[in-house]
This record gives sequence, C-alpha cells and structure tokens, in this order.
Amino acid sequence: MKFTLFSLKILTVVLTAIGFFYVTPAYCEQQFTIGFSQATTTEPWRLLFNDLLRKEARKHKEINLLMRNAQDDVSMQIGHIEEFIQRRVDAILVSPKVSKAMTPIINQAFNNGIPTIILDRGLDNDRYTQFIGGDNFFIGQEAGRFAVKHLGGEGKAKGNIVEIWGGMASTPARDRHNGFFQVVSKEPGIKIVGKLKDGDWKQDKGYLIMSQFLVDHPQIDLVYAHNDPMAYGAYLAAKDVKRENKIAFIGIDGIPAEGVRWVDQGFLDATFLYMTPGAEGIRQVLRLLKGNPVPKHVILPSMMIDKTNSHEILKQHGLLDTSG
Ligand code: FRU
Repeated sequence: MKFTLFSLKILTVVLTAIGFFYVTPAYCEQQFTIGFSQATTTEPWRLLFNDLLRKEARKHKEINLLMRNAQDDVSMQIGHIEEFIQRRVDAILVSPKVSKAMTPIINQAFNNGIPTIILDRGLDNDRYTQFIGGDNFFIGQEAGRFAVKHLGGEGKAKGNIVEIWGGMASTPARDRHNGFFQVVSKEPGIKIVGKLKDGDWKQDKGYLIMSQFLVDHPQIDLVYAHNDPMAYGAYLAAKDVKRENKIAFIGIDGIPAEGVRWVDQGFLDATFLYMTPGAEGIRQVLRLLKGNPVPKHVILPSMMIDKTNSHEILKQHGLLDTSG
C-alpha cells in the first residue's frame, strides 16, 4: 500500500485528535484551591489533625491547599479568612479558636458564596456550609457517668470533683461542661469544688490551676479536665505534692501517643476519644466541590478508653514499648 502525502496528512490529523482527546482530561482536570485555618498547633491533637488532613489532601492532585496556623490568636485567624475571601478560594476549612469573635467573618465568607466547613469548634449561628466534629455534650455526659460510677455508683456516689475548663469562649468547652454537669449534678453526694478556671486547653495551665486547687481543697477525689493535656498537667501537680494516688483523673481526646499512653501508664483513669476531623474535612469538601450534596452536620464517633482497652489500642498503633 502506498502512502500519499494526502493520506499521511489525514493520519497526522487523526492521531493528533486521538492524542488530544486522550490527554486533555488529565490536563484539564479542575483544580480547587482550599484555604484551611487551624486555631493553633500547640497540642499534639492539633498536629495529628493537620497531619491527617495533609495526607488526605495529598491523595488528590486536584487540590491546592493553603494551610494557615493562627497560633491561638483570634485576630490572626480573622486575617486568614479575610485573605481566603480576597483570593476567592474555592472553599474554606476552619477550626475556629473561639465561637463569638470568629462568627461574623466566617458568615461573611459563607454569604459571599464560598463553601465554608467548620471543624471541631462551632460558631454562634448556623450560617456555614457544614460542621464536622465530635458530640461534645455526649462526651461530657459519658465522662459524668464514669465519674459517678467511680465515686460509688448512681444514687450512692460521694466525693469532691474539680473541673478544669478548656477555652471558655469555645463550644467544645461549654458542651463538655454542660454534658458532665447534667449527669453529676443529679448526685447529692457529689460536690463540684473550686472556682471556674479557664485552662485554655494547655498542659501548663492545667498544672497551675490544679496546684492552686490542691492548696485550697484538702479533699479532692476526682479531676475532670476538658482535654488530656490539662488532665496530665493536673496529675503532675498532684504528684508533686504526693496526692496523685488519692485522686482519679479524667481527660478527653484519646490520641494514642498521648492520652491513651497516659491511661496505660496509670496516670489518667480514663479518656474519651475525640477524633480529629481533618481527613473527613478534605473528603467532604471534595464531594461538595464536585457537585454532590453533603449533610449539614457530620458527627464523629467517640469511645471510652480506660485500662481495659488502652493496651490494645497502643498495640494497634504500634506504640507498645517492647524494649524493656
Ligand atoms: C486542641 C484541643 C483538643 C481539644 C480540642 C477542642 O487544641 O484543645 O485537646 O479536644 O482542641 O476544641
């Protein structure tokens, strides 16, 4: 068969067309710019949150992620959202430091038509696209039920409890308090002692607050701290005055390398899993940006962690110390 110049030209056109259709979808895959503002990176829980979010985002070539750390500073975090609005990002993920002061700017992004997903800490209204996080009221109730059982059981429980609050201006702290209080306040033998103290989720503040409680209250039977770092800080304060063995310590978060380990080592009596919402945030935002409906609330599951399951969890995560 003879190739004329004409048939060669036709072949070239056909091959180019095939190549075009074959290659184009990959090149033209829609890109999404997603702005993410994290409240802080002080606690290991936040580092795990960022790590899992980043890992999930890396699985999707179409995501261009802008990550910001507000360093516990509300005005810095407001600045992040302003930046995202100005850049017209395709979506915003935000874990707000506090609810009230962050609500107006996040509402503004939402009102400007930018899909806005709130992670872990809530706002003061529901003008956002989606919330993803744990059920803090329920976790507070579960902690309350643990406390009642530990102090003698329903109707018979007796003892003095101190509560160390996370950031009072944030929804998880308020919900964790309300859930806990609803359960323990039904017990006439239980007294919550000590002044309201905001530990801002920090271990060193947990230590300082507990040091003062120990001076003021010769009898403390149980500490309920709104997260594991503060519970551990409280434990260390009690240990310094040799009272740690007379007190039970409850925290929240249950991340393997931190709270679960502390339970396993016998420093904390229990913690409650509070899953980080980063990976789910990426999955949900992609679904949304690809035109699929998403629910208004995604509630992440929790579980109690005490001596009965801490070892197994550490094993599952390859965190058992086998050196000794
Ligand atoms: C980390 C943290 C967690 C806590 C969560 C509540 O910054 O304090 O320990 O569970 O935030 O928003």
